[in-house]
Amino acid sequence: MLLVAQLSDAHIGAPGATLAKGLDTAPLLAQAVASVLRLKPLPDLVIFTGDLVESGATAEYRHFRQLIAPLAMPVFVLPGNHDSSAGLRAAFAAEGYLPDGDQLDYVIERWPLRLIMLDTIVAGAPYGELDAGQLAWLDDTLADAPARPTLIALHHPPFGSGIVHMDEMALLQPQRLEAVVARHAQVVGVTCGHLHRMMAQRFGHTLAVSAPSVAHQIALDLNEVPEPRYIMEPPGFLLHRWDGARLTTHFVASGDFGAGRVFV
Ligand SMILES: [Fe+2]
Ligand SMILES: [Fe+2]
Repeated sequence: MLLVAQLSDAHIGAPGATLAKGLDTAPLLAQAVASVLRLKPLPDLVIFTGDLVESGATAEYRHFRQLIAPLAMPVFVLPGNHDSSAGLRAAFAAEGYLPDGDQLDYVIERWPLRLIMLDTIVAGAPYGELDAGQLAWLDDTLADAPARPTLIALHHPPFGSGIVHMDEMALLQPQRLEAVVARHAQVVGVTCGHLHRMMAQRFGHTLAVSAPSVAHQIALDLNEVPEPRYIMEPPGFLLHRWDGARLTTHFVASGDFGAGRVFV
């Protein structure tokens, strides 16, 4: 069995800073980290699917690293549209898993579930994209290991959510990614961030899911002309459980809710 905790969209500012609407995200990331550490068994690894920080500044990454320092298991990060690729690379260079080059696409090979991390960032844009070179790299990387069950992670959702203002900044041309995934039966899931809500949609032969934010959620507004709002619904993260045959994705609410009560 392998347990992968997926945290997303922490939007950390410099120490003491708040987001434009006055939200202090630091205690919310700390709460998520504490919630991960309360899990029994502990996750084997943690992935962060982008928007680690709010504006990409060095001080924000330093603050982010301080907040996640209690995580004793390996941690892997991906950039989101609020990140700076250079800033993120500098902040996590010491771990040695980020590739050289402009794009931060890489593979995590050390567990029975293979993880492919995709960098969907378009500099200066809120939406995401995978260019032809990245899609060819993904196709080749999957072709190299057809017997290795694989989870693909990226920041931008490769599916429409029905929340119009978020769909305007999703992954461009997601059908190109779906076509690659559909060629490789070993892909057991695709998971993303950015939406600040958990949802799921069929994607090729598999399932695509989105993580909630560890901080603020995007309000559920399915009207044709929604009002972009965030809302302080209970934050959380995803826990992917690979049992050797199937992937189960759990929503885990951040916070200490005790051990629960025995029914009998
Ligand atoms: Fe975000
Ligand atoms: Fe984002």
